[in-house]
Amino acid sequence: MKEMLEKIKAEAAAKLSEANADLEALRVQYLGKKGELTSVLRGMGQLSAEERPKIGQMANEVRAYIEQLIEEKSAANRAAALEKQLAAETVDVTLPTEPATVGSRHPLSLVQTELEDIFIGLGFEIVEGPEVEYDYYNFQALNIPENHPARDTQDTFYITDNILLRSQTSPVQVRTMEKKKPPIRIISPGRVYRSDAVDATHSPLFHQLEGLVVDKGITMGDLKGTLELFAKKMFGEDTRIRFRPHHFPFTEPSAEVDVSCFVCGGKGCSLCKGEGWIEILGAGMVHPNVLRGCGIDPDVYSGFAFGLGIERIVMRKYNIDDMRLLYENDVRFLKQFD
Ligand code: PHE
Repeated sequence: MKEMLEKIKAEAAAKLSEANADLEALRVQYLGKKGELTSVLRGMGQLSAEERPKIGQMANEVRAYIEQLIEEKSAANRAAALEKQLAAETVDVTLPTEPATVGSRHPLSLVQTELEDIFIGLGFEIVEGPEVEYDYYNFQALNIPENHPARDTQDTFYITDNILLRSQTSPVQVRTMEKKKPPIRIISPGRVYRSDAVDATHSPLFHQLEGLVVDKGITMGDLKGTLELFAKKMFGEDTRIRFRPHHFPFTEPSAEVDVSCFVCGGKGCSLCKGEGWIEILGAGMVHPNVLRGCGIDPDVYSGFAFGLGIERIVMRKYNIDDMRLLYENDVRFLKQFD
C-alpha cells in the first residue's frame, strides 16, 4: 500500500506539472469520491492494527500534498491570466486623440447677453412672457383694437381667434404692469413671430428685446438718456443717437431711434448706405390708455418703452447681409463669432 500511495503521489505531481493540466479533472481523478486515493484507503481494512495508522497518516500527507499542488497551480494560472489581460488591455495614453469639437455661442445669444448685461447694469430686471399669447395682450391692451390697421403690419399665426403667436414682446409690458405697481424697470427678451415670407431681411420667427420704465415723473428726457447710455455701451463711446417722429399705437409720442454709424462715425459708408445713421429701435412714452388698462393712473404715473430687433443689431454689428445665415446652423459661419 505504501508503494501505491507513493506511486499516486509521484504520478499526480508529474501530471500537475504539465503546462495545460486540467486541474479539476485531476482533482477528481486523485481526490474525488471515486478517486485513486479513496480506493486505496478503502483497502485499509485488510491492514494490521499496527500498520493502519501509519498508512492512514501517509495517505493524509499525500492528499494534503496533492491539494497543495492543485492550489499552487491554480493560483499561478490565475496570475498568468491576469497578466495576459492587463497586457491586452494596455492603453497608450500618449497617443494623439481625435480633437473634440467645441461649439461656439450663437451670435444671437452673444448679442442678447450683451444687451441684457447693459440693461442689468442700468438697474433693469429681466422678465419673460409667453410666446403663445392672447389677442388681448398682444393687441387690445396695447391700444390696438380689432380692425386697427396696425394689425396688418404685425400679421401673425393664429391658434384660435383669440390665441396667437406673439408678434412683439410688448405684451410683456402689459402682463408686468397688471401684476406689479410702479416703479417698474424691466427688459424682456424673447422670440416673436410674424407671417412674413423668408428673405434676406425677414423671417417668420425673430427676436426682440422690450424695455419698460414706469414711475412718477418719467419723461422723454429719461428715455433719451437711457437710450444714449445704452448706445454708447453697445456701439462705442462716440456714438450719438437721433429720434425721428413715428407712430406706435401703444406709445405717444413715438419715435424711431437711430445711432450714428459705428463704422464711419456718421460720414456715410456702405454699412449705413451713405446715411451716416443706422436705425436700431422703436420707442416712446407709454400711451395713457395702456397704463389705464393695466390699472395704473396716467395722471400719477408715466413711463417709456422701447423695442428692438436682436437680429437687426446682430446684422449691423457683424455686417451680415442675409438674415437666413442666422438660422441655417452652418458651423462654418457660426464659428466665426464668440
Ligand atoms: N413693439 C414694437 C414693434 O414690434 C416696438 C416698440 C416697442 C415700439 C416698445 C415702441 C415701444 O414694432
